Amino acid sequence: MPDTWVLGIETSCDETSAAVVGDGRVIASSVISSQIAVHRRFGGVVPEVASRQHLDRITFVVDEALKEAGLGFSSISCLAVTVGPGLIGALLVGVAAAKAYSYALKIPLVPVHHLEAHLYANFLAHPELEPPFVCLVVSGGHTSLILLQDHLKYRLLGATRDDAAGEAFDKIARVLGLPYPGGPALEELAAAGDPCAIPFPRAWLEEGSTDFSFSGLKTAVINYLNRLREEGTSPYLPDVAASFQAAIVDVLVEKALLAAKKAGVGKVALAGGVASNSTLRRHFEKRAAEEGLDFYFPEKRLCTDNAAMVACAGYYHYLAGHRASLSQEAFAHYPL
Ligand code: KG4
Ligand code: ZN
Repeated sequence: MPDTWVLGIETSCDETSAAVVGDGRVIASSVISSQIAVHRRFGGVVPEVASRQHLDRITFVVDEALKEAGLGFSSISCLAVTVGPGLIGALLVGVAAAKAYSYALKIPLVPVHHLEAHLYANFLAHPELEPPFVCLVVSGGHTSLILLQDHLKYRLLGATRDDAAGEAFDKIARVLGLPYPGGPALEELAAAGDPCAIPFPRAWLEEGSTDFSFSGLKTAVINYLNRLREEGTSPYLPDVAASFQAAIVDVLVEKALLAAKKAGVGKVALAGGVASNSTLRRHFEKRAAEEGLDFYFPEKRLCTDNAAMVACAGYYHYLAGHRASLSQEAFAHYPL
């Protein structure tokens, strides 16, 4: 039986989530209330709508998480909440709720960075995993290569200079007429296509760079579609989706391996919403094995936004003695 139960709260984008995690490893409950159906008719997340949805759902989701865990607030040692980065109005709902619970119930509160939470999802999936390792965090808002030197000690090794990988998936999915969220829909379409059909560009950037850029690829796909349409030919969309996905996956994997090599670590991990992409997982696994690196990734439900990963990272902040005060703010932009 774990000694320390942490209740995590996550509201940085369009999932209202609460979870109870024991000793940073045991998921006693994980409740995710997704707003996808609400935002779908707008073709993307509408920030103001997201905030209102979080407000409607947050207390229910917290109650459910406790109920599912079979625990009361009296068993919770610590609350952990995502304080940034993300949609400011959405974050504020989680932070305000967490501060209210903390104040009313006299439970300590710790602040968690959204990217560290994604990275920490790997510890839930692999209880034996220990730092140091390099993690590729790929989500709708971020594409970052992070070296976890020790718990809570990060070094940013690379990041996108323009679009995030998930953002590129979502934008191209929209161009292809697919519903929001674009990533899973594009992956499904790509399954019927040939990844070698169209040689879309790979942005390797300068020799040895571990930064990313996806805006050129996005433009190349749009130009390709426009050219075919002008010629009166209809593109075979599964080939476009598969070739686009292959271009993104190639760059993500090779740069993650390069970053691990440069950092001198033998372990690489994957995290974030895009990490649920099966082609990325398979290709990464194969290439990591070829390079003699151990490869870790969380199960799909721990890749997209969830509060279990927040509770996991929160546990280490709690052990380190970090505490949020009642003046804790939320941050749309928040360096790791
Ligand atoms: O981590 P996440 O849930 O939220 C952010 O922190 O952004 O990631 C959401 C992103 C979206 O861009 C979504 O399209 C993408 O992850 N995504 C995928 C897949 N599942 C989710 N991208 C590619 N393939 C997928 N299977
Ligand atoms: Zn996320």
